[in-house]
Amino acid sequence: MVNTRELAQALREVSEPGAVEAQRRRAQALMARATPAEVSQAEQMLIDGGMAPEELRAACDIHLELLNRRNVPARDSLPAGHVLDTLYREHVEILGFLDKLDKLAARLGVTEAHDPASEDHTLLRHLAEHLVGAEKHHQREEDVLFPELEKRGVDGPPRIMRLEHGQFRPRKHRLLELAETVTQPVNAPMAPAEFAAWRQEVADLAGYIVFHLRDHIFKEDNILYPTALKMIEDAKVWAEMKRRCDGIGCCCFSPAA
Ligand SMILES: [Fe+2]
Ligand SMILES: [Fe+2]
Repeated sequence: MVNTRELAQALREVSEPGAVEAQRRRAQALMARATPAEVSQAEQMLIDGGMAPEELRAACDIHLELLNRRNVPARDSLPAGHVLDTLYREHVEILGFLDKLDKLAARLGVTEAHDPASEDHTLLRHLAEHLVGAEKHHQREEDVLFPELEKRGVDGPPRIMRLEHGQFRPRKHRLLELAETVTQPVNAPMAPAEFAAWRQEVADLAGYIVFHLRDHIFKEDNILYPTALKMIEDAKVWAEMKRRCDGIGCCCFSPAA
């Protein structure tokens, strides 16, 4: 347990350019004692105090660096098919796609000429389709999980997560469009300059998605979901949330419940 006002102040200080080691140590000491709910509350205080979402996102990254991935015991005890169990397991799948996309982008970066039959292009299309297919995962978060947190006064972190979903969406669709361009069987090989421009756009999109979506998942796994587990105590609420999640449906890669 910590004083959340003190924690918010410490997080604001380490988020500012030129933060010194003593401030970082103070924030680390507070974070070590804080519960996930207290972290959320402190973040929300920063938003209420006028911090822009973009600034809070930078702060959030620092919080996580300070947090240094803590284990959440409750996660292992979730029954299969629980709203959060499904979301956690979908994250594992999405992280697998991101690993493949990361390696693929590195290979494409050194590919000299366009080969319409390249297996890497087929793989890119497959990965982009699955990332676009994660939309139902985001929709369950936005329409079911986040509102329950907001009802309990946790507004800041869901706001950042929604903002980030909105930033991923057009990039994932554009990546799929680019993948479709090079895998059309009727297409003749691209001219070298055209392929170089295609490769650059793919590299930029893949770089953004891999880095920021990994970071997004890290924040949800380590702060947002544990906060939800702690704050939503009534099993009946979780059952109703499950019913609404089932109404939205699963992703093409969701684990069987
Ligand atoms: Fe999310
Ligand atoms: Fe998620």
